[in-house]
Amino acid sequence: MPEKRIVLRNCGIVDPKDLSSYLAAGGFAAFAKARDAMTPEQIVEEIKRSGLTGRGGAGFSCGIKWALARKARSAQKYLICNADEGEVGSFKDRHIIIHDPFGLIEGMCIAGLAIGATRGFIYLRQEYRYLYDGLAAAIAQCREKGFLAHMDITVFEGAGAYICGEESALMNSMEGLRGESRYKPPFPPSQGLWQHPTIINNVETLMNVPYIIAYGAQAFSAVGTERSKGTKVFSVSGDVRNPGVYELPMGTPLKELVVDLAGAENIKAVQVGGATGNIVPAEKIDMPLAQESVLGSGAVVVLDPTRDIIDIVYNNIVFLHEESCGKCTPCRDGLACMKDIYSRLVRGDGRPEDIRVLEALCLVMGQASLCGLGQAVPVPVMDSLKYFRSEYDALVQRSAHIRHYATKSLSMNP
Ligand SMILES: Cc1cc2nc3c(=O)[nH]c(=O)nc-3n(C[C@H](O)[C@H](O)[C@H](O)COP(=O)(O)O)c2cc1C
Repeated sequence: MPEKRIVLRNCGIVDPKDLSSYLAAGGFAAFAKARDAMTPEQIVEEIKRSGLTGRGGAGFSCGIKWALARKARSAQKYLICNADEGEVGSFKDRHIIIHDPFGLIEGMCIAGLAIGATRGFIYLRQEYRYLYDGLAAAIAQCREKGFLAHMDITVFEGAGAYICGEESALMNSMEGLRGESRYKPPFPPSQGLWQHPTIINNVETLMNVPYIIAYGAQAFSAVGTERSKGTKVFSVSGDVRNPGVYELPMGTPLKELVVDLAGAENIKAVQVGGATGNIVPAEKIDMPLAQESVLGSGAVVVLDPTRDIIDIVYNNIVFLHEESCGKCTPCRDGLACMKDIYSRLVRGDGRPEDIRVLEALCLVMGQASLCGLGQAVPVPVMDSLKYFRSEYDALVQRSAHIRHYATKSLSMNP
């Protein structure tokens, strides 16, 4: 199946430094339509009908979220574009910001009208400082043209922590607090930044908005599957010939992305969705890329047969342990425990009960962690146990042999 471009339709076509080039390509026509010919309720309804879901990973209905913020009574409402993009293997949001900053700003302008926000922020990870000047210049041009009259937009630089991509930790960090997840409810659309109703959307989610307003909800929802509408932008890396950013209709088989487009030749597994993403074995490579099967934020890392799956999962766990905010016990202590188990397994000191303990930890962390970080840790662990169990068994067996010979040599050399 060929690529289908909704989100990336202006990338490489408009000059990202020049607003007039974006306007010449039809830019801000959707905003003008939303502002002059639609009520905020109609905008929200159109987004709801389109079936657009969040592209930041959780996949919640964008329209339902906006409706909650629209209804919330408050003199001040905020819109935050989540450009933290800390997910392992993800680089699509940066690609969008580099190539089509005006498209993102237009999406934000429409979202601001819909929910009644008067302040907008782009939360940009500090490591992506190289994007700051381009974004600020694009915002300045839009401000000068009067597109930000209803809602001014500024770029907020995050300090660069994986957890600060999680929406409640993100708001904490903006308020000058520690980057820790908040207890929910209240949810951001009713009580978010500085206690005011707040909508937080991913860069890619907002990029879909001008298209939906310009061409209608039906044109958008005609693409995709029953439960996953529109397209998805993927960042593909790992053992492929053509790593890069690809946009495909929801429901496209994983194989078409990694083999036909990215040029993978020899696949052992594919991790879809970053450090807490699914690990799809080669025999399931026809799986459709959609909310109802496998998707996440769209980070796709291809692993060839030279890759050790347990080493990959161990790396994920080391990263997640480092990045856990430590506020809740299941995530903080669960990850410490998992890290200990994996480090013993890979250095030949595994125990027969390790696999049972990993499964028990997954159960507790998945159900009792405070936010999506801890809740999703079980995903790669359980997938690797399901599809690559023999690799775990081999490590446990190897550990038993090492122990056996170590004891023997000790008894021979007292
Ligand atoms: C640990 C963690 C990191 C996250 N990082 C990001 C991120 O970098 N960008 C993003 O858009 N969403 C991220 N999310 C998801 C956000 O919490 C939130 O669901 C999203 O920004 C909402 O926007 P959407 O509905 O448009 O997807 C992260 C979630 C978790 C648990």
